[in-house]
Amino acid sequence: MDKNSIHGMWSSRLAFILAASGSAVGLGNIWRFPYLASDNGGGAFVLIYLACIVLVGLPIMAAEILMGRQGRMSPVNTLRKLTREGGHSGGWTVIGWIGMVAAVLILSFYSVVGGWTMHYTWLYIAQIFGGPPISDPVATFTNLLASPGTLIFWHTAFMAVTVAVVAMGVEKGLERAVKFLMPLLFLILLGLLGYGISTGNVGQAAEFLFTPDFSEVTGDTLLAALGQAFFSLSLGMCGIMTYGAYLPRDISIPRVAVAVSATDTAVALLAGLAIFPVLFTFGIAPAGGGPGLIFTSLPLAFSDMAFGIPYAVAFFGLLFVAAWTSSISLLEPPSAFLVEMGNLSRRTSAIIAAVFIWAIGLVTALGFNVWQNVRVFGRDLQGAIEFVASDLMLPIGGLLIAIFAGYVLNREVARSQLSHLSKAGFAIWRFLICIVAPVLVLVVLGFKLFG
Ligand code: PHE
Repeated sequence: MDKNSIHGMWSSRLAFILAASGSAVGLGNIWRFPYLASDNGGGAFVLIYLACIVLVGLPIMAAEILMGRQGRMSPVNTLRKLTREGGHSGGWTVIGWIGMVAAVLILSFYSVVGGWTMHYTWLYIAQIFGGPPISDPVATFTNLLASPGTLIFWHTAFMAVTVAVVAMGVEKGLERAVKFLMPLLFLILLGLLGYGISTGNVGQAAEFLFTPDFSEVTGDTLLAALGQAFFSLSLGMCGIMTYGAYLPRDISIPRVAVAVSATDTAVALLAGLAIFPVLFTFGIAPAGGGPGLIFTSLPLAFSDMAFGIPYAVAFFGLLFVAAWTSSISLLEPPSAFLVEMGNLSRRTSAIIAAVFIWAIGLVTALGFNVWQNVRVFGRDLQGAIEFVASDLMLPIGGLLIAIFAGYVLNREVARSQLSHLSKAGFAIWRFLICIVAPVLVLVVLGFKLFG
């Protein structure tokens, strides 16, 4: 007999697909993917990235969803339940803990960067009403980073809109928000794409993104592609597992996993096709740049092009919405965990989790100015947190999830959760999750740590 989750349930397949796509589609697609692609040989990187999505991303996503749906709790308690039911070592609960700590760390800096998108949206809205233009984008960005007050103000605002949604619960908060925000996001993206096409340089952008140049492929390209697949699909931190816990039993897991992965990939490619034509038209080199790339180079184009200001509002608004729906999925696991501890309401739980993460976020915000000379692992504070959470904890979490789902979890449990797969389909999933995914992740992790 299948129970519902105590936290609530998605009302339909579409609701889950929108929520999980909302988690997946984020700064990773719109800022990070185009930039990685341009640095790693364009089309060759894109091809390798697609292979990583299919061979590693899809099977692990299916594993997260099926574990979540079997456990119906926040990651830590889902793992507790699965290990208890199956008579496995309780040590596997560490998967849930890694996931939750990763979610907390990622959200702490994601919220600061999400604050940047709000700040820039605001700067451009103000221009419509006669505010000062951004004439020197590098100075504008540098000033933002140098100002703890401004950074913390927007970090607080971003965390506030995130907690507002999570506090309202699965149906009234998460589902209602994504049903409104995701169509809005697609609409803005299509508008920007239309503009890119009408400026005429979309051909150059497509050639750049889709013509494989394998001479530029190195070991680093493989690492970048696999790492991006994890980050972009929100895998390894049990966020998708948490969303899976709210998925009704009759819905096909393979089908939703394919839909979410395809949506995430499509948005990344479309974002590339929307951004590069503009950069090419204004002769801005896309390669290089770091986290500031979009904030320092695109405003150059915005100030020169027709309808540049409304375009900028749409663009940074798009980034904000994408970041918002991702941050909701980062706050949900720790909030659900606090609810399960016993005495707290969802509202109180979400607020406690948010305040705690907000406080950790101050480290990122102050790391750009007051503590700008502090180095951890040879990186600035934001870089160090991002490295530990995204580059180490996500792949380690993903590896453990693959091993647990492939080797520890009772095969009948997986089979019944994946009952929509044919016999051959299930055998392929087993092969990918038992062998292909763990081996590839191990190779990447090995390179990262020792290469
Ligand atoms: N997938 C999100 C993006 O592409 C980032 C993210 C990672 C969100 C992990 C949640 C969990 O921006």
